[in-house]
Amino acid sequence: MAKLIPVEVFDLVIFGGTGDLAMRKLMPALYHRHRDGQFIDDSRIIAASRGAIARDEYLANVKSALQRNLAAEEFQEDIWRSFSDRIFYVQADAFEHNNWQALSSLLEGHEERTRVNYLATSPKLFGPIAKGLKTNRLVTGSSRIVLEKPLGHDLDSAKKINDAVADCFSEDRIFRIDHYLGKETVQNLLALRFANSLFEPLWRRGAIDHVQITVAEDLGVGGRVEYYDHVGALRDMVQNHILQLVCLVAMEAPSSLEHGAVRDEKMKVLRALRPIALEDVLRNTVRGQYAAGAIDGATVVGYADELGHDTSNAETFVALKLEIDNWRWSNVPFYLRTGKRLRSKHSEIVVEFQDVPHSIFPQQEFNVSPNRLTMRLQPDEGVKLSLMAKEPGPGGFELRPVALDLSFEETFGIRYPDAYERLLMEVLRGNPALFMRRDEVELAWHWIDSIVAGWESSRQKPQSYVAGSWGPSASDSLLDRDGRAWYPDN
Ligand code: BG6
Repeated sequence: MAKLIPVEVFDLVIFGGTGDLAMRKLMPALYHRHRDGQFIDDSRIIAASRGAIARDEYLANVKSALQRNLAAEEFQEDIWRSFSDRIFYVQADAFEHNNWQALSSLLEGHEERTRVNYLATSPKLFGPIAKGLKTNRLVTGSSRIVLEKPLGHDLDSAKKINDAVADCFSEDRIFRIDHYLGKETVQNLLALRFANSLFEPLWRRGAIDHVQITVAEDLGVGGRVEYYDHVGALRDMVQNHILQLVCLVAMEAPSSLEHGAVRDEKMKVLRALRPIALEDVLRNTVRGQYAAGAIDGATVVGYADELGHDTSNAETFVALKLEIDNWRWSNVPFYLRTGKRLRSKHSEIVVEFQDVPHSIFPQQEFNVSPNRLTMRLQPDEGVKLSLMAKEPGPGGFELRPVALDLSFEETFGIRYPDAYERLLMEVLRGNPALFMRRDEVELAWHWIDSIVAGWESSRQKPQSYVAGSWGPSASDSLLDRDGRAWYPDN
C-alpha cells in the first residue's frame, strides 16, 4: 500500500452539507482518511446549509449516513467519536450573505490554515456562494474552492459560472471535480501508458484499429428524474467523464505529472476532436431511452413511467463515433457508449489492435482474433491483454484467444479507495492535476454543443430500448457498418 502522508491542518467547509453527495460520498471518504491518520491536529470539517440544525442533530445524521454507506466492519464507534469531534455545522444561505456570521466566527483566527470550500450544491449557487465568501472576507491567501458537476448545461452557461467564480478565486484556486479522474483504474491508465515502454510504440494508427469506451449502468435515473430529464446522457456522462477518458487514452506523454503538463496535453486532444457536423449527426450518434424490461431477473419500469409522462426527449443512452484529427489517431475511430438500465454495471476501455497482416495459419484465417487491451473500471478494476495461443496437443495448429488477466484488487490485496478519498486529499494538498481546468471544460462543452445542435435541427428522437439490453440496435449498427462490434459481444 502506498505510504499515507498526513495533510497540513485545514478547515474544510462543505456547502450543501446536508445533501446527498455530502452524506453518501464526502463524509465516508473523510471518515476513511481520518481513520488512516491523515488528518492531524484539530483540522475541521464544517458543514454549511440553509437549515437551522443543532450540531448534535447534524452529527446524528452523519453517523447514520456512515452506517448506511460504509461496510459494516468499517464503522467503528471509537473512530466515529474522534471523527465527529472534527465536524461542525453552521447555517448559511447562499443568497443571504448577511447571515454568514456563524461561519465567519468559526473561521476567524484560523486564517493561516488551508481553507477549502467544497460546493456540493446546485451549480446555480456556485456564483452566489463564491460571492458570499468574498463579501464576508472569508477568502484567505490559501483558500480553495471545489466545484461539483454539472458545470453548466452548455458552453454559455459554463462560461457564466466560470466567470462568476473567477471574480472571487483565481484559476489556480479552483478545483473542478470529475470523479472519474479519481478512480484507481483511470490513474492506472497513466501508469500503464507512461510507466511501461511496451505499449507506446504501438499506441497509434498503424497498430491500433480502434478504441471503444463503454460506461454502462444497470440503475435507472430513479429519484434524479426531474434533474436528469433536462440533462440526458450526453451532458451527464460524455461531456465530462467519457471525454476525460478519451483524453487520457489519446494524449501525448506529458513531460511530468505536474498539473499544467497533464492538462496541456489533454487540451491538445480536445482541440483535435473532429466536430460532428450537422450532416453527420444522424450517422455518427445514437440516442436511446429505456422502456420497461428486466435486470437480473427483476422487472423494472421504463423511463417514461419514472417521469410520469411519455413526451420526454431526454436520452438515457448515447453512442457516438468520435475521430481525432492528429497524426497519432488519424483514421482510428473511438466508439463511445453510455447508458442507464443497461444489462449490467460495466465500464471499460478496449483498445483493439490491427489484424496480423498475413496469416501463416491458413485453416485458421477466420479465427485469428486481433489483440485487445482492456482496461476495466467497473465492476472490478483490472487490465486484460487478449492474445492468440496454440491449443495444446499434436495434430496441427488450433488457435484460441487467451488472456493475461490482472485484477488489481487480487494483486494488491487492499480495499480500493473511493475516488472521492483521493480527490479530497488532492484538494487539501493543493494539487490540481486531477481536476479540470476552465479551458478543458469549455472546450468539451463546445464539442458537445455541436452534437446537441445537430440533434435539435434534425429532430432526432431517442430510440426505445428494453431495460436490461445493451441499448438500441442502432448502437450495434454504428460499429457493424465499419465491420466492428462492441465488446463484450452482446
Ligand atoms: C455521475 C452521473 O457523474 O456519475 C450519474 O451524474 C452517474 O448519472 C455517475 O450515475 C456514475 O458514476 P460511477 O462512479 O458510479 O460510475
